[in-house]
Amino acid sequence: MARSGKATVIGAGFYGSTTAQRMAEFDIFAEVVLTDIRDGWSEGLALDLNSSRPIEGFETKVVGKTTTVDGGGYEVIADSDIVVITAGLPRKPGMSRMDLLEVNAGIVRGVAQNIAKFAPNAVVVVVSNPLDEMTRLTQIATGFPPERVIGQAGMLDTARFTFFVAERLGLPVGAVKTLTLGSHGDTMVPVPSACTVNVDGTTKPLSSLLSGSEIDAIVDRVRGGGAEVVALLKTGSAYYAPSAAAAAMVKAIATDSHSVMPVCAWLSGQYGISDVYLGVEAKLGRGGVEEVVERALTADELTALRQAADAVRTKSADVLSL
Ligand code: NAI
Ligand code: 2OP
Repeated sequence: MARSGKATVIGAGFYGSTTAQRMAEFDIFAEVVLTDIRDGWSEGLALDLNSSRPIEGFETKVVGKTTTVDGGGYEVIADSDIVVITAGLPRKPGMSRMDLLEVNAGIVRGVAQNIAKFAPNAVVVVVSNPLDEMTRLTQIATGFPPERVIGQAGMLDTARFTFFVAERLGLPVGAVKTLTLGSHGDTMVPVPSACTVNVDGTTKPLSSLLSGSEIDAIVDRVRGGGAEVVALLKTGSAYYAPSAAAAAMVKAIATDSHSVMPVCAWLSGQYGISDVYLGVEAKLGRGGVEEVVERALTADELTALRQAADAVRTKSADVLSL
């Protein structure tokens, strides 16, 4: 099997290490690089992951490297085709993603500047929170064209939505299709009009199987899906579903799949919204976002999406002044 290219994960915490593991286990890259400022941590994880190769049966080489905030060690990411930014603090119980804004802005800005210097042709996938604002900050700090900087949130939020519906109806997750747009936060926009369920080979709208109030309850749970995990863990936030989401985006980019996925992408007029990073459906390929794909929304969904855009635009402007 031909393996090619190099993909890097910056930040080797729970999210970064599980993302690197998934990316390596795809067995499509020549090399997966994992970096962190914690001395020896990335090297230790790389040694451990490489030792799993004979059992898992993948040949992708994992390279770990300790870096410094001023760019020490960053030569290891040179020529990366894709870089995932997971560096940053996670939430504690009771915190909102927005509470991380100031500290993570400092971390993400520094990381982004180093990416621009050492991997200037990479497509960047951002996951650090607050997601929409950190994605915009990364695009500004790298100076990369907007299509080469993409945020991960919609894949995760949509997966949670699908799981909750499947559980409620007692069906396989593969029988359910859902969608969330908007921000990765309070102005998340679950899109019930796009949700379908396959029952005995027939595709039905979700609204024909659940009442409006039942759908509303699931939608509320999706909006609080990250906080629900944080409250149970008590320290740290979710990483299995988040890493699956980021790794799926990385795979779509690396394989030039042209798959349409819900991601955080730059809008320039779609849905009547401009100049903001927001959760929408987009076609992903080797160059990043190839096209933002619009769908028919109900009037309420469109209004909610535009409100989300306004909220994220205001917060993104705040970030740039930090
Ligand atoms: P974690 O605390 O386990 O790991 C964060 C890592 O970043 C640590 O190892 C830390 O040493 C490293 N780091 C800090 N500053 C750095 C720098 N300048 N350069 C390189 N590495 C640096 O946290 P976890 O669980 O991995 O979460 C990471 C981020 O992802 C958080 O901001 C969290 O809120 C966010 N997140 C986003 C989700 C999404 O859907 N977009 C879902 C889940 C988490
Ligand atoms: C999540 O949704 C905390 O953003 C993170 O799990």
